Amino acid sequence: MEEIIKDIFYTGSQDPHRKLFDQLIPLPLGTTYNSFLIRGSEKTALIDTVYPDKINELLKKLEDAGINKIDYIISNHGEQDHSGGIPAVLEKFPEAIIVTNAKCKELIQLMLHVADDKFNIVDAKSEISLGNKTLKFIPAPWVHWPDTMFMHIVEDNILFTTDFLGAHYPTIEIWSTDSEEVIEAAKRYYAEIMMPFRQFAAKYTAQIKDLKPAMIFPSHGPLYKNPDVILNAYTEWTSPEPKNKVVIPYVSMYGSVEAMAKHLQAALEERGIETELFDAVNSDLGDIAMSLIDAKTIVIGASMVLAGPHPTASYVAALIGALRPSAKYVSLIGSYGWGGILAEKIFDSLKNLSATKIDELVIKGAPQQADFEELDKLADKIAQLMRN
Ligand code: FEO
Repeated sequence: MEEIIKDIFYTGSQDPHRKLFDQLIPLPLGTTYNSFLIRGSEKTALIDTVYPDKINELLKKLEDAGINKIDYIISNHGEQDHSGGIPAVLEKFPEAIIVTNAKCKELIQLMLHVADDKFNIVDAKSEISLGNKTLKFIPAPWVHWPDTMFMHIVEDNILFTTDFLGAHYPTIEIWSTDSEEVIEAAKRYYAEIMMPFRQFAAKYTAQIKDLKPAMIFPSHGPLYKNPDVILNAYTEWTSPEPKNKVVIPYVSMYGSVEAMAKHLQAALEERGIETELFDAVNSDLGDIAMSLIDAKTIVIGASMVLAGPHPTASYVAALIGALRPSAKYVSLIGSYGWGGILAEKIFDSLKNLSATKIDELVIKGAPQQADFEELDKLADKIAQLMRN
C-alpha cells in the first residue's frame, strides 16, 4: 500500500470497468473507492473500506504491509461502496471497533447485520486519539445520505469528505492534477449525485472553506492537494442563480419534435440565448444531468406514443424532477398523431422544481409555418424571461 502522507496509506481500489452506479448512473470512466490506513503512534485506523467486490484487494494490501492490528474502522458513510467491506475486515481484525455516527450505524446494521457491541458512536464533539493524530468528526447529513459525515485529522489538517467533492474518475495518479478533465468528472458527479442536495452542498462548501483544510480526500476520485480548485467549482455549481442557458432534451419518433427543438434552439440563439440540445435517446444521461447545473430554462421535447409521452421523455422528465436543478423556468414542446395526455404527465414529473411553468406548445403531426411562428413566440417569451 502506498504511503501518501507520512503514516497515511492508500488502501483503496480502482474500478475502471464498472459501467453503472446504483444500477442508474452511467460511469463512462468507471470509479474508485478510496480507503486509507492511518498509523498513529499508539493506534491504527482504517478510514472506510471498499465495494465488497474489491475487498480482497484491500485485505491483501494490509497483509502485504504486515498490518496485524486495526483498532478502529472509521465509517463516514453507510453506502455499500464504502461500508460493504466492513464484515470482511472485522473477520480478519476482530478487535477493530467501528467508529461512526448513530444514523450510519443504523444503516450498516440494516444492510450488514453487524453486532451492536462493535460500534463506537461519535458526533461533532467527539475526538479519537491515535496517539500523535487526533480524529474529529463533522456531521454532514444529506450529501448525499442522512448518515454522511466528514472526518478531520487535526494535526495534518486533512479533511475526509466521503462522497462529497468526489468524482467517478479512476486514475493511477492518486492526486488530482486539477486538469479540466478532472473537474469535468467532478462536475458530472456533482450533477448526478449531489445536485438534489444543492442547498446542503452549498452550506458544507462554505463550512469547509472556513475550516481551510490543507488537503481534501474524498471517497471517489483523485485527492486534492489544492482544495480551492474543487471548493471554488462547488461554489459556482451550487449557486442558486443558474447561468442564462436553455437546455432542450428531446425525443422525436419521426422528426417532428426534432424539427421543433432545432427551430427553437436556432430562434433562441438568434436572440442571444445560449442553448444546449440533446437527442435524449442517443445521449448519455450524465451529460444531460451536467447541463442542468447551468440551465435557467429547461424545455423538454416529447413525441407521444400510446396516448402518453414517449417513455424516454417520461424518464428524462423524471430524472430532471429527481435531480432538482435550480432552473427558473420549464416548458414543453411536443407532437402527437391522434391524441392522449402529454403536458400534464411531463409537468407532473417536474413539480419538485422551484420553476415557473411556461405554457407548452404541443402540435398535431409535423410542424408547419404557423407552428414555427409559435416557436418563435415561445423563444421571444423565454428570452424576455431570461433577460429579466
Ligand atoms: Fe460512494 Fe454514497 O457512496
